[in-house]
Amino acid sequence: MRMVDLIAKKRDGGVLSKTEIDFIIEGYTKGEIPDYQLSAWAMAVYFKGMTSEEVANLTMAMTLSGDTVDLSPIEGVKVDKHSTGGVGDTTTIILAPLVAAAGIPVAKMSGRGLGHTGGTIDKLEAIPGFHVELSAEEFIHNVNEFKIAVIGQSGNLTPADKKLYGLRDVTATVDSIPLIASSIMSKKIAAGADAIVLDVKTGAGAFMKSLDEARALASAMVDIGRELGRHTVAIISDMSQPLGYAVGNSLEIKEAIDTLRGEGPEDLTRLVLTLGAHMVVLGGKAESFEEGYQLLEELIHSGKALEVLKQFVVAQGGTAEVIDDPEKLPQAPYQVHVTAPVDGYIHAIQAEEIGVAAMQLGAGRPTKESSIDLAVGVVLTKKVGHSVRQGETIAILHANQEDVAAIAQKIERAFVIQSDACEESALIYDIIQ
Ligand code: URA
Ligand code: CA
Repeated sequence: MRMVDLIAKKRDGGVLSKTEIDFIIEGYTKGEIPDYQLSAWAMAVYFKGMTSEEVANLTMAMTLSGDTVDLSPIEGVKVDKHSTGGVGDTTTIILAPLVAAAGIPVAKMSGRGLGHTGGTIDKLEAIPGFHVELSAEEFIHNVNEFKIAVIGQSGNLTPADKKLYGLRDVTATVDSIPLIASSIMSKKIAAGADAIVLDVKTGAGAFMKSLDEARALASAMVDIGRELGRHTVAIISDMSQPLGYAVGNSLEIKEAIDTLRGEGPEDLTRLVLTLGAHMVVLGGKAESFEEGYQLLEELIHSGKALEVLKQFVVAQGGTAEVIDDPEKLPQAPYQVHVTAPVDGYIHAIQAEEIGVAAMQLGAGRPTKESSIDLAVGVVLTKKVGHSVRQGETIAILHANQEDVAAIAQKIERAFVIQSDACEESALIYDIIQ
């Protein structure tokens, strides 16, 4: 087999066989096929697309390009959740103990954040003492015992995807639905998921700007799941503003605790319950979405979900005290109010800008080597659809220095305020299953 012939075949709109796709991915992972040939192939895929079968074969080839996590010693259906790039996306921290309380095993391998998207591990480390350095045995034991554990990323998972994603980034081939869908799904399957719930974001701040694009990506991933025997459901949710109010590590932990107490922001709570209800159905703990939703509401109101969070925190070295008293989380010394420059209605809050501002305050890592400040971040006080008066507070910066004028300005610009009234934005647009 020659790579040049496979590039030509895809260029001319042909369908690649499993053997041909395996040849490409294995050859590229081993360094036997050079970057320039993969670049030409990725561009051919960009223009000609792939059939569902090709996408499934590409996903599996990338899944098997490195180590895979074996979760078979864990009882039950392992249902994983993935979100395509949220800002201040606290859903994982709330969902994990919530669905664990419903009996779904949560065996999560997580990463640290880079850039303006915070990592789940960074957020959890805002809890004093909390650590993710568990042995494989402790990890399995904790999931079987408490239904939940989070471990740091280790091993060499999906090296083909790492290499190909890097190449796509510099060859204008990121925006290809078959390539994005296979990239995301290969990582979930390599991490041991039996079933997957996806939160595909759409809107100005999201990867998929239009609802049609988001639907196409969601359908492609649901199809991969079907082909590969991993039942997958995708929710398409709004990104015309950050979810909830808080962006920043400690601040998001506090928001997660509030939500598990039943006192969280309405949008965050509803999205968590929606994603969680699908997880509970896929995991066989409810017959229908409605039953799952109700079950999770009960677990919040009875305090059981919060109890599971405490057990989980203690099992991984953290102090459960902060859960009863979130004031004991790291606190920033300065609080700076950002105010509305004009009267009007909020039409959008550019999530990415808010994320970048939080990173500049020290909540995120501009480079892999940077350290982060767990206490700092941004708390919105207004959301899309709200009316504001000039001079009214729209957000509060939690900062470790007094002079944050430039960042405050950036936050102010992230709010799109116009004189005409505006509806609250829809949170969930569609569910693909
Ligand atoms: N996220 C991924 O993991 N892969 C892509 O290709 C795009 C976004
Ligand atoms: Ca948030």
